[in-house]
Amino acid sequence: MTDDPDAFGSNPSTAPHFGDIAARMLSRRAALGGALAAGVAAAAARAPAQAAAPDVAPGPAPDHALAPGYRAQVIIRWGDAVLPGAPGFDPAAQTGAAQARQFGYNNDFLAFLPLPQGGGGSDHGLLWVNHEYSQLHMMFPGLTARDAVEKATAEMAAVELAAVGGSIVEVRRAGGSWQVVADSRYARRVSLGDTAIRLAGPAAGDARLRTSDDPTGARVIGTLGNCAGGVTPWGTVLSAEENFDASFTGTPPETGPEARNHRRYGVSGRARSSVGRFHPRFDLAREPNEPNRFGWVVEIDPYDPDSMPVKRTALGRFKHEGATVWVNPNGTVTVYSGDDARNEYLYKFVSAGRYDPANRAANRDLLDTGTLYAARFADDGTVRWLALRHGVGPLTAANGFHSQADVLIEARRAADLLGATPMDRPEDMEVNPVNGRCYVVLTNNDRRKAGETDRANPRAPNLYGHIIELLPPGEGAAADHSVSEHRWDMFLLGGPASAGGTPRPGRNADAWIACPDNIAFDKAGRMWIATDQGGQQARFGVGDGLWVVDTAGPERAVGRFLYRVPAGAELCGPCFTPDNRTLFVAVQHPGADAPGATYDTPASRWPDFRPDMPPRPAVVAITRADGASLAD
Ligand code: FEO
Ligand code: CA
Ligand code: CA
Ligand code: CA
Repeated sequence: MTDDPDAFGSNPSTAPHFGDIAARMLSRRAALGGALAAGVAAAAARAPAQAAAPDVAPGPAPDHALAPGYRAQVIIRWGDAVLPGAPGFDPAAQTGAAQARQFGYNNDFLAFLPLPQGGGGSDHGLLWVNHEYSQLHMMFPGLTARDAVEKATAEMAAVELAAVGGSIVEVRRAGGSWQVVADSRYARRVSLGDTAIRLAGPAAGDARLRTSDDPTGARVIGTLGNCAGGVTPWGTVLSAEENFDASFTGTPPETGPEARNHRRYGVSGRARSSVGRFHPRFDLAREPNEPNRFGWVVEIDPYDPDSMPVKRTALGRFKHEGATVWVNPNGTVTVYSGDDARNEYLYKFVSAGRYDPANRAANRDLLDTGTLYAARFADDGTVRWLALRHGVGPLTAANGFHSQADVLIEARRAADLLGATPMDRPEDMEVNPVNGRCYVVLTNNDRRKAGETDRANPRAPNLYGHIIELLPPGEGAAADHSVSEHRWDMFLLGGPASAGGTPRPGRNADAWIACPDNIAFDKAGRMWIATDQGGQQARFGVGDGLWVVDTAGPERAVGRFLYRVPAGAELCGPCFTPDNRTLFVAVQHPGADAPGATYDTPASRWPDFRPDMPPRPAVVAITRADGASLAD
């Protein structure tokens, strides 16, 4: 999300900033003559280099563009049919009822789930798509970013409720191109308006989750802020609720636990959506507990269209960027998740139970019991994972934590007290299946102070972001992400080399990776990075898009710019088919991230380029022109 939702960091912690620690650690390494770094590189698997291939022109420009030898196909756009009977998209006559059957707005995380289930095929499957948030001024004529919420009508609010959440579409590849299968029995919309979701885990039913609509505290209508996510090995999708604060209006309580809680999460009542003007459950004065029912990870079974999604409270409540799953050698499951706001933390959940590959149903509630941890980076190159366990250390009644439910609902404050390390806006965390390392994407932090600059982060502010690698014991599939202490390393610094970015010798000096956001790995262990510069895009003169980067060998951390999105867009959701011949990506908010952009004056009308049609967020399938695997 790039409406600058994270511009107001709400973390008052005084724990040492990550930049300071990285500087101390890396200067120690320099003193060791690089021996540690050399050892790490030797242990990593080799991946093919991209050195000889040219970049796409850096742009930005109104249309998307690819490096030579690749193809892009738009496969579904905002407003296209998802459910049977969906009306054709008519931007001049939008209704909540129509949107509820159509593809939602601002596509983000994508997951490809093969059909038949468990078959591992790559030409036929289900595509789960997150719809992160609505932008009234880009969806309807006559509005600006400033006045859209106050001018919105009840019907616009109904469209907003229906436009966020997720979609499931069945897709099939034939003759080299992808088609959405019409009237699929799997087709589904999940929304903020009418999808019943069960709350499960230690916080389910807690008094702080009860509202007048739901006296049980165990059943919530809808999901929102669905940013990135993950796929479980048992074939369900995890969808992460990120900027949930944006939908709440009204005056938050001034005293009591929810006053402190809402302050810590930035739930101020300054809504960027109109739903609170028409639906009292989003009014903080009337329903102060409703925000506690968002900010979780939602598990959805796309293979069963009748299944009820579940919010897994054991994974904690914060602005979850994503939820990446790894099965450890002992069978326990780790779920990594960053909290995307300035100076927030990295978290991981480790299940108590073990994954059973032979019995899908046995894994159904695996994410309800286990331990949530927050990360503390130390200056000796180690990271410690601090358990958020009620009754242990400071997490007691004396500090307002009366139960594990309190710890999970106020995970940020619990992590503050444990001394977790504030980070530069944690976005994706993904494990590279070849080397088994977890890569942590820190997108930027424009509030970094001059006193926090150092050799590892020599920029104040940090406009370009960086990527860290976590080095747990074990390589590849044997990597053990359940341990509570291990080493870490710096992987990549964004921005031009003149500003401290990782150099790209021999490449176009006008192109550089800025503000990495979502990442994916191909079978060769290469990292595919989607970027999101937000309002900085025009100033940097580099479009957002897709970079491919080796994680080992001489080209380690040297990027190649492969796909550029249309002006004003960010790229999200990179997702490979199992054969790596297709990479699905989500082009979010095309035409929007530009000064003064509205429905009437967008920076691009991609993908339709019709004067009567606004720009439309859409899913794109990227393939090689010769049909080969993208990992070759
Ligand atoms: Fe929704 Fe942190 O991007
Ligand atoms: Ca984003
Ligand atoms: Ca993101
Ligand atoms: Ca972002």
